[in-house]
Amino acid sequence: MLLKPSSTPLVGIDISTSSVKLIELSKSGGAYKVESFAAEAMPVNAITDKVIMDLDAVGEAVRKAVKRASPHTKYAAVAVGGQVMTKTIQMPASLPDRDLGEQIELQADQYISQPLEEVAFDYEILGISQADPDLVDVLLVAARKENIEKLQAVLEVAGMNAKVVDVEVYAVENACKLLTHQMVDEGLDRTIGLVDFGAAATTFSVLRDRKIIYSHTADFGGKVLTDEIMRHYGLTYDEAGKAKKEGGLPNNYKVEILDPFMDDMAQTVNRSLQFYQSSTSEHQHLDQIIVCGGCAAIPGAAERISEKLNTPTLVGNPFGRMKLSSRAKSQMVENEAAALLVACGLALRSFD
Ligand SMILES: Nc1ncnc2c1ncn2[C@@H]1O[C@H](COP(=O)(O)OP(=O)(O)OP(=O)(O)O)[C@@H](O)[C@H]1O
Ligand SMILES: [Mg+2]
Repeated sequence: MLLKPSSTPLVGIDISTSSVKLIELSKSGGAYKVESFAAEAMPVNAITDKVIMDLDAVGEAVRKAVKRASPHTKYAAVAVGGQVMTKTIQMPASLPDRDLGEQIELQADQYISQPLEEVAFDYEILGISQADPDLVDVLLVAARKENIEKLQAVLEVAGMNAKVVDVEVYAVENACKLLTHQMVDEGLDRTIGLVDFGAAATTFSVLRDRKIIYSHTADFGGKVLTDEIMRHYGLTYDEAGKAKKEGGLPNNYKVEILDPFMDDMAQTVNRSLQFYQSSTSEHQHLDQIIVCGGCAAIPGAAERISEKLNTPTLVGNPFGRMKLSSRAKSQMVENEAAALLVACGLALRSFD
């Protein structure tokens, strides 16, 4: 079920640290339309390190989001968190597809470090290997069965079914087709940094010609800012989260807390970029940076990154070229678009 293409209409549900985000898309004449949408806050610590910890709390958040959006289908595409292994391996091009599957299964324990009975794995044939035309590149993906079962359990509470279980970075890659209108030369023959600043993690990906060629996740996100606000002003998690978005904090907030946090955002991107640059000799220079995720909505954050990294930076908007149904429009909050990239990528699995 991991990665497998789907021809069923699906709702993309991003079950993440700070919230559940649900998007249903339709497509006509090459254009997408948001049919339904909902976001529902996730209680603190219900998900940690991208793994579901509190099945009841997460199930309830998903149930509320589904109820509010009331999508047209009960089938969902979700992304599995926690330790996910992805690896590109080479197999003989001459093997028929069926034998390829068998061969990969037989060899899987060479590539997967965890006990095989504890992991679910899947593969996708990427195409003829550049290094050798007699070989094909095969993408192997493995995730803990337990984490997939937890996803299924929380969807069940909402009366939904997991039809596709994806990996977050592939959902992001898929969603990039919704950002091409913001890319230099629509991303063709360009090297673009795409940053997803979430609550718990920040993922920096390098896109070359619209495909992800590098990805690095750092332990940094909006939670750092929430914790700092809670500590500094003696607020609860919910109060701090609200104050971040709606303002009302004392005057020293900007200089003492927000500014240093934005510097940390830029520093996180810079460090990931250095990791990337030390891993390759090609395409080292970024033509552009696109920032997404909830923290991308912080006014001035994109400008700060642009200054510090000396690279044009903008906030991604996957809905720039889309229509919104009036129902979806009434649910969507201004500024929220950039946080919905993963949910959009998952929703796009309907059209694979
Ligand atoms: N307008 C805003 N100003 C400041 N911070 C914001 C704003 N909007 C959202 N955030 C912050 O962004 C974070 C949520 O972003 P996002 O929804 O991308 O995270 P997530 O997907 O839940 O987390 P993760 O991907 O790490 O699991 C929260 O820390 C939230 O407080
Ligand atoms: Mg996220």
